Amino acid sequence: MPFDDYWYIVAESRELTPVRALARRVLDEWLVCFRGMDGAPTVLRDRCLHRHAPLSAGVLHNGLLSCPYHGWRYDGAGRVVDIPSLAGSDRPAHCSPPYPVIEQDGFVYVRVKRDAAAGIVPFPIPHYGEAGWLTLRLQNRFANSVANCVENFIDVPHTAFVHQGIFRSTRGQRLAATVRRSNAAVHVDYRNESDNLGSYRWFLNPRGHAIRHTDSFHAPNVTSVVYEIGARVFIITSQAVPVDDRETLVYTDLTYRFGAWNRLVAPFVRRHGQRIIDQDIEILARQGENIGRYGAQFRDTPADLIHRLVDSLRDAIARGDDPRALPAVEHEIEFCI
Ligand code: FES
Ligand SMILES: [Fe+2]
Repeated sequence: MPFDDYWYIVAESRELTPVRALARRVLDEWLVCFRGMDGAPTVLRDRCLHRHAPLSAGVLHNGLLSCPYHGWRYDGAGRVVDIPSLAGSDRPAHCSPPYPVIEQDGFVYVRVKRDAAAGIVPFPIPHYGEAGWLTLRLQNRFANSVANCVENFIDVPHTAFVHQGIFRSTRGQRLAATVRRSNAAVHVDYRNESDNLGSYRWFLNPRGHAIRHTDSFHAPNVTSVVYEIGARVFIITSQAVPVDDRETLVYTDLTYRFGAWNRLVAPFVRRHGQRIIDQDIEILARQGENIGRYGAQFRDTPADLIHRLVDSLRDAIARGDDPRALPAVEHEIEFCI
């Protein structure tokens, strides 16, 4: 399955403590994650080599993970370092091969294919940990596919309906945008975004600055929404992790630079961000249920061109092609919200 060439978040760095192993599922693979003796993250199949009990239900002590069934102990390289029933007699060499792992920007990424294509790296979170910037991190489960989740995250027309009053407060505004596909990404550059920011307006744009709004998709599973309003910048990075075809775990980073306000507004930003996501979770669950019943035969408006280009990249991956090889295209679109 070609989607397993890519890196997916398996945990936040802070979730991997010295005393707890985590059970995770990525691309329908059942995984256990923990930190070994040297503190480096390890991801193994969540299945003991002996009689296949789930290792995630075991005990983690000093970087060694004991199976809950007969106590086989695994180190951070997946080697079995103790088999209690052998009590000191010669132990055969067993090893559960670890998955490739990268720890970056406070996330632990896994690749569920061991011999994956080279040159693919996790998406770097913009301004993560930089002075003057703050990142708030949210985790949410969606009952829908990665494709429908990423479509939602960079879909402007739904905001006036699903998030009415919170995010967008007026209707009948005409938006124009340039949409580009190149290098395995889709970029959307909006023009004439004005002060249609719902209840955020008083804070985000008190002086009525021009707003620069750009959305982008980075194959196969990352979206980025950027608002630049004078010196204030607000970036929403969403990474959609495929649990299976119908379930997606989404890590949302709210990264912003609001000057002296950064810390003060954090609870507000977190609460409102989560409120908006909760509304998306609800509509996407309903959409997912209906697609489960009848399949997907969508009808498009000009605004949906963005989603078609996103699909073209994901379809290339599904075919086993390199999405970077698709020709660059550029379109102008216009729609009303
Ligand atoms: S099943 Fe894990 S030790 Fe027996
Ligand atoms: Fe939304």
